[in-house]
Amino acid sequence: MNPLLDFLLVLATLIYSYLEAFVKLFVPAKRKSVAGELVLITGAGHGVGRATAFEFAKRQSRLVLWDINKVKKEIGDVSILVNNAGVITTADLLSTQDHQIERMFEVNILAHMWTTRAFLPTMMNNNHGHIVTVASAAGHFVTSFMVAYCSSKFAAVGFHKALTEELSTLGKDGIKTSCLCPVFINTGFVKNPSTRLGKILEVDEVVEALMEGILTNQKMIFVPSFQRVGLLLERLFPERTLAVLNKLTNVKFDAVIGQRSTQ
Ligand SMILES: NC(=O)c1ccc[n+]([C@@H]2O[C@H](COP(=O)([O-])OP(=O)(O)OC[C@H]3O[C@@H](n4cnc5c(N)ncnc54)[C@H](O)[C@@H]3O)[C@@H](O)[C@H]2O)c1
Repeated sequence: MNPLLDFLLVLATLIYSYLEAFVKLFVPAKRKSVAGELVLITGAGHGVGRATAFEFAKRQSRLVLWDINKVKKEIGDVSILVNNAGVITTADLLSTQDHQIERMFEVNILAHMWTTRAFLPTMMNNNHGHIVTVASAAGHFVTSFMVAYCSSKFAAVGFHKALTEELSTLGKDGIKTSCLCPVFINTGFVKNPSTRLGKILEVDEVVEALMEGILTNQKMIFVPSFQRVGLLLERLFPERTLAVLNKLTNVKFDAVIGQRSTQ
């Protein structure tokens, strides 16, 4: 490899990407049709999953709402998989019980592996599909009293990124991936959340951003989008400054603290 050619390739890609982003500010992004697609949504009984199911239904998708095992045999080949189901226990690490930690990892990340491994083979054969990972802002930024939850969501973000890379390496450009990372949403998932960073999100605005992201094949969907600035600051600012900024955000929610787990 010629280092100069490598450098020129990176530079050309960088300029192209910025130009493309600039043009997209003025030209509306092309939205794909999801009519007729078989969409499996986990955790579709409430909150984000339920509202997302309604949005796909409006667009004439065929829907499977996850509830039981052995789903693949019963429903056939899913072309859009929305791994949305999630659980949380808000407590300090020592107050969180073993089974609660295991459950968070089972539902928030391991289940993504199992469902994706079940439906990916057909998507690969057809070089067509979309795998949606519902992660969280907690998959990029940490919060006290959510150690296991944050860890599982960091894993979900890592899963999405690594899968995206692997599909690209395998040349499966027809299989798209999206990762949703919202801050607190008003679903009751976390009890009494508040933060100085802004208001608690409503389900509708999250699902609107999610659907827009899916239809335009966005890889990372931050709600709100200013989280990108936070990620940049995290790389630029000294740790002490970041600690002060973190305190100023004043993130609060109900949590069990100081009740040492007996398991
Ligand atoms: N609400 C928030 O503040 C928030 C913020 C960021 C990310 N998220 C993520 O968004 C996703 C949806 O959260 P929500 O706020 O809609 O929660 P929710 O509790 O309102 O809905 C989640 C649904 O998933 C179901 N579910 C849980 N475990 C399941 C399992 N093993 N199999 C099938 N269904 C299961 C629940 O019964 C529930 O109906 C989760 O992954 C969550 O981590 C939520």
